[in-house]
Amino acid sequence: MEIARIGVVGLGTMGAGIAQLCVEAGVETVGREVSLDRAEQAKGRIGHFLARKVEKGQLEQGGDEAALALLSLTDDVADLAACDLVIEAAFEEMAVKQQLYRELEAAVGPDAILATNTSALSVTEIASVTERPERVVGMHFFNPAPLMPLVEVVRAERTDEQVFEAAFAFAERLGKQPIRCNDTPGFVVNRILIPLLNDCVRVLDEAGVTVEDLDKAMKHGAGWPMGPAALLDLVGADVHVHASEALYEKLREPRMAPPPRLVRMHQAGKLGRKSGEGFHRYDG
Ligand code: CAA
Repeated sequence: MEIARIGVVGLGTMGAGIAQLCVEAGVETVGREVSLDRAEQAKGRIGHFLARKVEKGQLEQGGDEAALALLSLTDDVADLAACDLVIEAAFEEMAVKQQLYRELEAAVGPDAILATNTSALSVTEIASVTERPERVVGMHFFNPAPLMPLVEVVRAERTDEQVFEAAFAFAERLGKQPIRCNDTPGFVVNRILIPLLNDCVRVLDEAGVTVEDLDKAMKHGAGWPMGPAALLDLVGADVHVHASEALYEKLREPRMAPPPRLVRMHQAGKLGRKSGEGFHRYDG
């Protein structure tokens, strides 16, 4: 199954990171956003990170421009027609995803693979609205996608084995460390990490610890690369609360439910890095 051209649908944090990985791997990539303005903004962010890599000697001189030249932008799903694999990183809402999959399936060829980057929704349910659910698979990247090595390759109920292995092989081609797993709520990492982060937020109030000390505790006492509050700020309170609610709905475990403190932060727009304030404050 040759994968020569990729489509990435949704160029938010995750989609832009995935598109960056694809062009860095030398693959022609079509990025689709709801408007060309948003697509251009994402391309600007990708250009910034690629340029930093050149400055830091992680990419050869001119490597950033060569990679960016492989990225074309569109606001029209029909422009994904020639893609062998489309990775969807759209808004985490079942109805939104399902509508998109109907459109995607109509746009691409019969042999194309449709991969969803969903973190908390059922891949099987997303695929259920398509005529060819065997062509649908999960490819779950982690934030920040260009830096985090893991990709969970998710086998949905009807995923064809060759499609599954092609998605796995493509993740390896991107330089990732993929794993194979079934389509269960939260797959592997979020099934564990979401209740753990929720516990961290509950401990904040219970133990009367400061945010700074909570981060210090988990970095220096548990070896985390960054503290839980800093990680939640990176992921975004909106994304975390949404995923947490989706998992709670399916598993009904109290620890899966988002803690009230996080829900309030979400409602107040204290989303973390993206809004300039979360548990910590961010300049610029
Ligand atoms: N492309 C390339 N470089 C990027 C980048 C991108 N998209 N985004 C950030 N960077 C660069 C930055 O430019 C920065 O470099 P400069 O400051 O030199 O410009 C560098 O990466 C990051 O610098 P740091 O000093 O912060 O790097 P670090 O060594 O501390 O590592 C980290 C950062 C990899 C994020 C590390 O802290 C880490 O592993 N944190 C844990 C992250 C994690 O757990 N993620 C999972 C979230 S959960 C999830 O994603 C699941 C879900 O479904 C919601």
